[in-house]
Amino acid sequence: NKPVITVIGSINMDLVTVATRFPNQGETILGERFLTTPGGKGANQAVAAARLGADVRMIGAVGEDAFGRELLRSLQSEGISVDGVKPVTHQHTGIASITISEQDNRIIVVPGANHALPPEDLDKYESVIAQSDVCLLQLEIPIPVIERAVSLAHRRGVRVIVNPAPAQPLPPSVLEQVDFLTPNEHERTWLFAGMDERTLVNKLIVTEGAKGVRIWQDGQEQLIPGFRVPVVDTTGAGDTFNGALAVALAEGKPLAEACRFANAAAALSVTKLGAQAGMPTREDVESLLAKQEGSQS
Ligand code: RIB
Ligand code: NA
Repeated sequence: NKPVITVIGSINMDLVTVATRFPNQGETILGERFLTTPGGKGANQAVAAARLGADVRMIGAVGEDAFGRELLRSLQSEGISVDGVKPVTHQHTGIASITISEQDNRIIVVPGANHALPPEDLDKYESVIAQSDVCLLQLEIPIPVIERAVSLAHRRGVRVIVNPAPAQPLPPSVLEQVDFLTPNEHERTWLFAGMDERTLVNKLIVTEGAKGVRIWQDGQEQLIPGFRVPVVDTTGAGDTFNGALAVALAEGKPLAEACRFANAAAALSVTKLGAQAGMPTREDVESLLAKQEGSQS
């Protein structure tokens, strides 16, 4: 039986420019490459989970424009149900303007349609949410939508993972009702602004890039190490981690093992340009895990 995952989140077209460096203020430089490629944290996580074998349902919104149509087609081609994706007329499809240089990457997201989903709309999807093994959310959609979704899922006994990216504080009700929070080190400091982190430490999975992820179980801190790979583009690595984590937890893997599985998936994803391009299949992840086990024994 395939694990069922509902992703509630953003759908963007990524406009990616690759340059050797970033321009200075007021300066124009020539770039090396340009591509338009599907992205958005929600859609990325949905694709990651689908490639790893989950039955994925997406809830979100796109504009009635060329990008929106293309993104819907691309989600469907991954086998993802888009019944929960609302086409809206008064907003453009979300976009992310991404610049990648040798040093790092910089992203500006313009949410557009992603911010046009009213919280009440979530009630229509109560049964979809209730039928899921795991619900997965990020912060590129309005916080009231997240509050509504998390409370629905919690009420129906469905496990919820919130990836608090991009960094924003979350309302206490969300922090209370989620099962897992997956910030990176920067997002972690935002999440707990003015709060005692100890009350939530058992829900925390802190991603620390190539180093791996940090978890706390029964008061014990543990670092699940990452995998060493040649890096081409880290855009979407966190999303791959979250999608894979959702699949592994939905399959009943214990937390540490689920994190190892997700680390392997994330590592593979950075070896190709584009958020979704390098996202691995199940076989890719399992062979990387097997290789690592082999090298340890
Ligand atoms: O997490 C990566 C994603 O963030 C990109 O695909 C881009 O769309 C932004 O939302
Ligand atoms: Na990639």
